[in-house]
Amino acid sequence: MVLVSGNKLLQKAKKGCYAVGAFNTNNLEITKAVIAAAVETNSPVFLQLSSGALKYGGFELAGLALAFARKVPVPVAVHLDHGLSFELARECINFGFSSVMIDGSSLPFAKNIAVTKKVVAIAHKRNVAVEAELGQLKGREDEVFSARHTYTDPSAAAKFVKLTNVDSLAVAIGTSHGAYKFKGAPKIDLQRLKEIGKLVDVPLVLHGASSVNHSLVAAANRYGARLSSAQGVPEPQIKKAVKLGVCKVNEDTDLRIAFTGAVRKFLKENPSAYDPREVLSPATEAMKAVVMRRIRVLGSENRA
Ligand code: G3H
Ligand code: 13P
Ligand code: ZN
Repeated sequence: MVLVSGNKLLQKAKKGCYAVGAFNTNNLEITKAVIAAAVETNSPVFLQLSSGALKYGGFELAGLALAFARKVPVPVAVHLDHGLSFELARECINFGFSSVMIDGSSLPFAKNIAVTKKVVAIAHKRNVAVEAELGQLKGREDEVFSARHTYTDPSAAAKFVKLTNVDSLAVAIGTSHGAYKFKGAPKIDLQRLKEIGKLVDVPLVLHGASSVNHSLVAAANRYGARLSSAQGVPEPQIKKAVKLGVCKVNEDTDLRIAFTGAVRKFLKENPSAYDPREVLSPATEAMKAVVMRRIRVLGSENRA
């Protein structure tokens, strides 16, 4: 189909009570894996690039994502993940992204509102969707580090959405980025999500939503990885969050584990291989399987 506005995907998901997966890309293989999974499941997807990804691959990497999005038969939104400044969001909008996140979550409330409003003003003229964040996930969010969770306050969220006219809102309900999300039993604050959903009517976004599947971790560890206490958000909790109004679910870490696990395995089993295409093909397949599984968990299969 075509590159579509993030809003189109989110509004359709909200009506249909499912969520669209948002997968971070940093290279050709990840991009190919996400797109192949979306095509095979006939699902919409967000293909997203963080500022770290743009530093690593330049706007050429974004160009690759846009080129795929424009040629495949399913709707794809190309999205800026954790945009940390108005200038970067503007650059991405000008480059052709169909969705941007302006992440002012580390700023005081009034400043977060101000920068989000500025991005909304330029984005909406170009039919580009804007995601903002209120509350902070513990750990690293791109270049920002927070030592603890600051959960999203439901009434502040309602006020924020009203004042900014933002299209979707990322909420902090106990998830975090990376492979080590919980020390004890994994648990996200679904009650808080419910309260937010009662007061906020835009689609909600869940960051830090990798499930860090035990079998993927075990497979990587078998070939030399050391990820023993890694823990993610269990899939049943993701499903509950979708029922409570989450329409976009971000996943990056699971693809990273699948990628490096498959590379480790291939190199161990094929010590004489040296063609990167051979080395990276099983990794692409492994990531494609992760994305297909996530699409099914979110209920976006056959929603293209
Ligand atoms: O925000 C978290 C995503 O996993 C992106 O990570 O900043 O290392 O590209 P990154
Ligand atoms: P994970 O680290 O759980 O994959 O989260 C990714 C994310 O939220 C990207 O914005
Ligand atoms: Zn995130």
